Amino acid sequence: MIERTFSIVKPDAVQRNLQGAILKMIQDAGLKIVAMKMIHMTKEQAEGFYAVHKDRPFFDSLVAYMCSGPCVVSVLEGENAIAKYREVMGATNPAEAAEGTIRKTFALDIEKNSCHGSDAPETAAQEIPYFFSQLEIVG
Ligand code: TYD
Repeated sequence: MIERTFSIVKPDAVQRNLQGAILKMIQDAGLKIVAMKMIHMTKEQAEGFYAVHKDRPFFDSLVAYMCSGPCVVSVLEGENAIAKYREVMGATNPAEAAEGTIRKTFALDIEKNSCHGSDAPETAAQEIPYFFSQLEIVG
């Protein structure tokens, strides 16, 4: 099944100039980039994006971090793209991520974990239009 998923190369990775390396890992997994741009999130955008976590103890720190610098947002397309990209990213906590994953290779800690990917079709369907208009998605 051809799916689309939403991806963020997070500020810790862009700050270390790792966006190219991370996008290469994504492309090497067979995922196609059908939309992409660089943004610097506002506090309101980050709060809205992570609203599901608003009552968690890490929320304020997570929002501040996501606004701390630019990130690269993209839409990825491919066979089982949602699960495939989650596999390429690795576990949320890099200490638990498998060898060869983005987070194992590059993440600094559980917060500064270098990438985001939608976790289900319903979240992908919310997250893609949160950052992209239909006109910005090609193919
Ligand atoms: P979550 O949706 O659980 O993970 P994932 O990004 O793998 O889908 O959490 C969202 C983000 O919140 C996660 O990427 C980093 C941050 N976070 C923390 O800072 N501390 C934590 O203990 C957890 C669970 C998440």
